[in-house]
Amino acid sequence: MAIEIEQQQQGSVELSTVAISTTHGEDSPYFAGWKAYDENPYHQSDNPSGVIQMGLAENQVSFDLLEAYLEQHPEATSSGKGAPSFKENALFQDYHGLLSFRQAMASFMEEIRGGRAKFDPSRIVLTAGATAANELITFIIANPGDALLVPTPYYPGFDRDLRWRTGVKIVPIHCDSSNNFQVTPAAMEAAYKEAEAMKLRVRGVLITNPSNPLGATIQRKVLEEILDFVTRKNIHLVSDEIYSGSAFSSSEFVSIAEILEARKYKESERVHIVYSLSKDLGLPGFRVGTIYSYNDNVVTTARRMSSFTLISSQTQHLLACMLSNKEFTRNYIKINRERLRKRYEMIINGLKKAGIECLEGNAGLFCWMNLSPILEKPTKKGELDLWNLIIKDVKLNISPGSSCHCSEPGWFRVCFANMSEQTLEVALKRIRNFMEQRMKKINSN
Ligand SMILES: Cc1ncc(COP(=O)(O)O)c(C=O)c1O
Repeated sequence: MAIEIEQQQQGSVELSTVAISTTHGEDSPYFAGWKAYDENPYHQSDNPSGVIQMGLAENQVSFDLLEAYLEQHPEATSSGKGAPSFKENALFQDYHGLLSFRQAMASFMEEIRGGRAKFDPSRIVLTAGATAANELITFIIANPGDALLVPTPYYPGFDRDLRWRTGVKIVPIHCDSSNNFQVTPAAMEAAYKEAEAMKLRVRGVLITNPSNPLGATIQRKVLEEILDFVTRKNIHLVSDEIYSGSAFSSSEFVSIAEILEARKYKESERVHIVYSLSKDLGLPGFRVGTIYSYNDNVVTTARRMSSFTLISSQTQHLLACMLSNKEFTRNYIKINRERLRKRYEMIINGLKKAGIECLEGNAGLFCWMNLSPILEKPTKKGELDLWNLIIKDVKLNISPGSSCHCSEPGWFRVCFANMSEQTLEVALKRIRNFMEQRMKKINSN
């Protein structure tokens, strides 16, 4: 995905406050790294010394399964026999979306959570990906100038999605390596107090489970504590649960939906789930996301607002066919997990051989790597200097922890599912060589 990060020119015709605001966050190293890749992309034969993109959480490991399904099921595409006519597809524009698609989506959301949570198709609101869903829910629960509390490290896109057009502020809940970056009641309380000190009204907590840069699921006990916290403060809880399909075992992943069910849906009207197929089915280009809210007013408002970001009916039809086919979804979820686990083990073992430790993970398309022992200075600047060196000399784009608002310098998010095994081998070899040189330098000083 290409990103335009050049500074805006000063024009003679005035633009709106939103247009000229810098809260889009695209001047972060997270996006700058993508630009470095775009300018000199690695290719095994055409450009073997190019930059390898390890900053993009894309799932390409199971594409063959999607292609095989499409070959066997022409009715899923508009050209196939049994598919709706061109006219039917072209004219359909109800913002509720196709019922068949919402039913299939609800059933897939249940399956991916190991069948331990129920979803009602009438509560599913369709959006163009989780990006639109997160912005939309922020518009509904907060006013400009209000705050959302978000645990760090968090997905850098939130600076754009939650803040830019809504005018809402993010106040970080600082987490660190002393307890494997888990959220604690004390950290939530501290963030709340910080927001109050800034005279901001806190409207909710937004968690990413397991889609945080750590590649780790949030433990049940922690989810219970978060739910207790938002209940005590009478605020909302948004749970962005988009990488659940890649949780290596569904039993390790606990959805907030399960906790609500166990609590007999008490206090559930303050809880909203964001879900997307971008990672779980590896279809970011299809732009398929949802808001699932337990609050009737939120469902109604979100549906009205979804008019701005609907999913095309052709895409809905294709996915209604694919996701209602249980044989396909079961097989896909199983094989996709096995392949992601294999990749995860490949990268963790490769990094270990290079002398690098990672946080123990059980989800996601990336790992959280600790390079703090090789920082020249244990500061944000030290981290960014190292990141620069890795892009320029090692030709790898990884995301520095500071771009995810991590307050502890030296951590990096490394993606492993957007490339072939061969490319991953090349990346690991480059890291090993770099570490050998770096350790020599450190030891000789
Ligand atoms: C936590 C999180 N939320 C939302 C998104 C955006 O997803 P989508 O492609 O569905 O808009 C991402 C993508 O990387 C993400 O990591």
